[in-house]
Amino acid sequence: MSHIKTELNAGVLSISFARADKKNAITQAMYADLARAVTEAQDAAAVRVVLFRAEGDSFSAGNDIGDFATIAMGGTRPTDMAVFNFLKSLAYLDKPAVAAVKGRAVGIGLTLLLHCDLVVTAEDALLSTPFVNLALAPEAASTLLLPMAIGHQRAFEMFALGDPIDGKTAHAWGLANRCVPAADVDAEGLRLAKALAMRAPGSLAATKRLMRDAERLWALMQAEGEVFGAQMLSPEAREAFAAFFEKRPPNFAAAD
Ligand code: COA
Repeated sequence: MSHIKTELNAGVLSISFARADKKNAITQAMYADLARAVTEAQDAAAVRVVLFRAEGDSFSAGNDIGDFATIAMGGTRPTDMAVFNFLKSLAYLDKPAVAAVKGRAVGIGLTLLLHCDLVVTAEDALLSTPFVNLALAPEAASTLLLPMAIGHQRAFEMFALGDPIDGKTAHAWGLANRCVPAADVDAEGLRLAKALAMRAPGSLAATKRLMRDAERLWALMQAEGEVFGAQMLSPEAREAFAAFFEKRPPNFAAAD
C-alpha cells in the first residue's frame, strides 16, 4: 500500500502523507511517489495548485531513520536516494504549493515548507530541523532558504540545537501565513488552495518563477546532498541512528 495519497478536486491536487503510525516518516518509496505526484502536477493542465497535508496527528517526522541506517550500513549509495527526485521536482514546480501543518514537522517535514508558497500551521504544531542531532547536514536548499526566512541566528539554532518551535512562533517568524487551531488546519489549507486555483494560472506561475531561482535552488540541493551523503556514512551518524532505535540519547562526547 502506498503511503502517499493523491486526490484532484477543483484544480487542487492534495498530496497526503498517509503513514500515521510512524508519524508520517518518509521512506524511499514515498519519496518516489512524491516526486511522481509533483512532476505530474507540474505537467497536468488540470492541476492548478498542490496542497501538502497529512493523515493522523503529525505532518511528518521527516526522513525514515531506518532508511538512513540502511544507507549508513552500505545498503544503498546516498546519491541514489529517491529524495533527490522529489527535491528536484519541488525546485522546478512553478504552480503554487500550499501546506497544512499540524503536529510534528521534522527535518524535511519543515524544509518542504520552504518550497511552499502559502503555509498554514496549527498553533500547537511543533516544527524542527534536528539535522545536527542526527550528525547529518541540512537539505532541500534550507541552508539558503531558512536563514533567508528567519535570519541566520534563529536558523543556526534550529539546525544545530534541533529544538522545536511551535506554530505560533513559526507564524511570528514568517514561516507561515496563517496559524489556526489544529482542528481548522486542513480546512484553512484547502480554502487557500481553492482561492489560488481560481486565479490566472499563467500569471501565478510567472510570479512564482520571478520570485525563485529554480536552477540555483537545485544546484544548492545537490551541493548539500554531497555533504549530507558524506555525513550519513560517518561513525557519528551511525551512533545517532542506533541511538534513535535504542531510544537513548546519542553519545558524541569527546574521548578524554
Ligand atoms: N523514522 C522512522 N521511524 C520513525 C520516525 C522516523 N523519522 N519518526 C517516528 N518514527 C516511528 C517511531 O520509531 C515509532 O515507531 P514504533 O511505534 O514502532 O516504536 C513511531 O514512529 C511513533 O513515534 P514515537 O517516537 O513513539 O512518537 P512520539 O510522539 O513520542 O515522538 C517524534 C514523535 C516525531 C518527536 C519522534 O518520533 C522523533 O523524534 N522522530 C524522529 C524525527 C527525526 O529525527 N527525523 C529525521 C529528521 S532529519
